[in-house]
Amino acid sequence: MIVANRREELKAHLESSGGTRGFVPTMGSLHKGHLSLVRESKRTTGHTVVSIFVNPAQFNDSTDLEKYPRNIERDLDMLSGLLGPDDLVYTPQTEDIYRGDPREEIDIELGNLDRVMEGAFRPGHFRGVVKVVNLLFAIIKPDKAFFGEKDFQQLAVVRKLASHLHPDVEIVGCPILRESNGLAMSSRNERLNSDIRNRASVIYRTLSGYSTPAPDDTVREIREAVINGVDSEEGFRTEYFEIVDPSTLQSIKPTCRAAEGLSWQGCIAVMAGDVRLIDNIRFSFPFNKG
Ligand code: PAF
Repeated sequence: MIVANRREELKAHLESSGGTRGFVPTMGSLHKGHLSLVRESKRTTGHTVVSIFVNPAQFNDSTDLEKYPRNIERDLDMLSGLLGPDDLVYTPQTEDIYRGDPREEIDIELGNLDRVMEGAFRPGHFRGVVKVVNLLFAIIKPDKAFFGEKDFQQLAVVRKLASHLHPDVEIVGCPILRESNGLAMSSRNERLNSDIRNRASVIYRTLSGYSTPAPDDTVREIREAVINGVDSEEGFRTEYFEIVDPSTLQSIKPTCRAAEGLSWQGCIAVMAGDVRLIDNIRFSFPFNKG
């Protein structure tokens, strides 16, 4: 694999590589979830580009940015086991990404996507994601770009960005990978102490416990039960748990019963000690089939 830390260097290598191009954007501190995206890109495209860049523009909290784990040597080591000689890793510094060229600034209207859940709790976060993903798409010009479904709302935001400004990029959502106790894999898990990390199983256990509701269960009842379930674990506090339509991310009415449910996604953010974790689950309604 080739490692490039300047745009021009990356572009020069891209010009000489043929076939379809897969792109996996990351902020490093790679884990098996990222590697599954890289594998999917390798399986379905001719060559793969992975970017490693901790994007300051998407952190609304400077302490969170400072504490974000960084392990570039380990990341490159992990990638070297998967990537081939035609594949590239782009490891820019902030100055290489943000060059102050006004033509590179964009602002797309995210509407509801920027007002709910992560948008409401992390003001400006998705603007920062859109800013960097737009630049990376413009530099790399991928045919396909791979994103994890753990960041469910981010995936919806990136799909919107692509449909507005990069219609030729196919956005591929890849399933959440979980640790053996059910905790969704995330670079932030490294910041959990071992006690909290073990007990963080409460998040997925609670979500999955309510994800096949009885026909008469309402959205309000399920929300309360999930929040109480997670918050009953010492040191855990739910920031939000919303049941939304997976394509629009509009909240489902609190009085809606599971018997009337078509497609529900449950999205949660939890403070586990001082680390913020997110997860989500698709509800199933076996009684509504046929
Ligand atoms: O999901 C992430 O790691 C980041 O938000 C992304 C997509 C790499 C943009 O910085």
